[in-house]
Amino acid sequence: MKIVITKSYDEMSEKAFEVMKQVVLQKNDAVIGLATGTTPLGLYNLLIKACENKEISFKDIKTINLDEYKGIDKSNKNSYHYFMQQNLFKYVDINQKNIYIEKGNAECDLAECKRYNELLDKFPQDIQLLGIGSDGHIGFNEPGTKFDSLTHVVNLKKSTIKDNSRLFNKISEVPKQAYTQGIKNIMNAKKILIIANGKNKAKAVQKAICGPITEKVPASILQLHPDCTFILDEEAASLL
Ligand code: GLP
Repeated sequence: MKIVITKSYDEMSEKAFEVMKQVVLQKNDAVIGLATGTTPLGLYNLLIKACENKEISFKDIKTINLDEYKGIDKSNKNSYHYFMQQNLFKYVDINQKNIYIEKGNAECDLAECKRYNELLDKFPQDIQLLGIGSDGHIGFNEPGTKFDSLTHVVNLKKSTIKDNSRLFNKISEVPKQAYTQGIKNIMNAKKILIIANGKNKAKAVQKAICGPITEKVPASILQLHPDCTFILDEEAASLL
């Protein structure tokens, strides 16, 4: 496991961008696992700029997102589909056919999870980008999720609903369930890049990196990944 500690959010985003850029430059049809949340926004802005400058291209890139709220349509402004379009996809030269995210309004959970697992088997991630929840979750894999889990439906924890409510008008609007890639799907990625900033992530980061490998802290499994890099700002790294 590699740990990079940076002075600021901007420097964290720049370092993460360098890692992503290398993957895209080495393999123009790479499969990139993407994440939502506020942490990756700086990185996404740098990817957009690099694409505008023709430094990189998404023309043949495939993206596979980690998770999506259940019960909402992709046109819903709170969906992760919408988030990804607004914060990355509509500004880069990606082919919309190469964008994969779970269908929040799928008719059958089992069929949707099966579809996504088959997709991940067919297109294993060359790199998987992750953020971390303040309780140590990755994707929407909450504490207690089995390390051998595949794509599944999750009941979101109260603390996650509260954390994520800042992106909604009202806490009551936050969906209570979501689809997420399982821990096993994430661990199958060839490379993992996990980014975190701010004090409210320090405990989760400390447990993930220094604590025991336990299903109580989903991100602790990353200690076993052969190619995992943590890029942190000083606040997120403050308890290491
Ligand atoms: C959500 C997402 C995670 C993300 C986490 C942290 O729960 N499902 O993928 O890592 O939030 O979000 P933020 O980056 O906004 O702190």
